Amino acid sequence: MNLYRDLIIDHYQNPRNFGELKNPDAVARETNASCGDMVEFAIKVKPFAINGLRITDVKWRGVGCAISTAAASLLSEKIRQISQIRQISQIRQNDMIDLLGGDISHARIKCATLPLVALQKAIGKLETNKLTNLPARNTTHSVAGGQTNK
Ligand code: FES
Repeated sequence: MNLYRDLIIDHYQNPRNFGELKNPDAVARETNASCGDMVEFAIKVKPFAINGLRITDVKWRGVGCAISTAAASLLSEKIRQISQIRQISQIRQNDMIDLLGGDISHARIKCATLPLVALQKAIGKLETNKLTNLPARNTTHSVAGGQTNK
């Protein structure tokens, strides 16, 4: 029995925080050009401490393989656990590989990091908006939710 393989399968079959977020403060997506898979992250935030922001809600959706789906699901759980944007911004490729159990082949690194890139883009939009002190209500996305079985 491989616990991490079981973890990936569990999150692939029962993805956490999957769906559409109403009235998000930032939305961004990333596509894997080599396969066409896509992950979109949507977040809501509120001020925290001095010049800080905390994520109060997160949802993601998209179409992807088992690894990218599990990575998005695990990342969304980690975001809820950490919540502070400053700490979430420090999540790196190696953290994603660790979340997935550390046994990700070089060929699948893009799968493992696809959700992280989408999240980083969303946070980037927040940081741009924060300069004007108003998190934008970006509701222009129109990605159909759902998964495919790959
Ligand atoms: Fe497309 Fe994994 S095969 S993201």
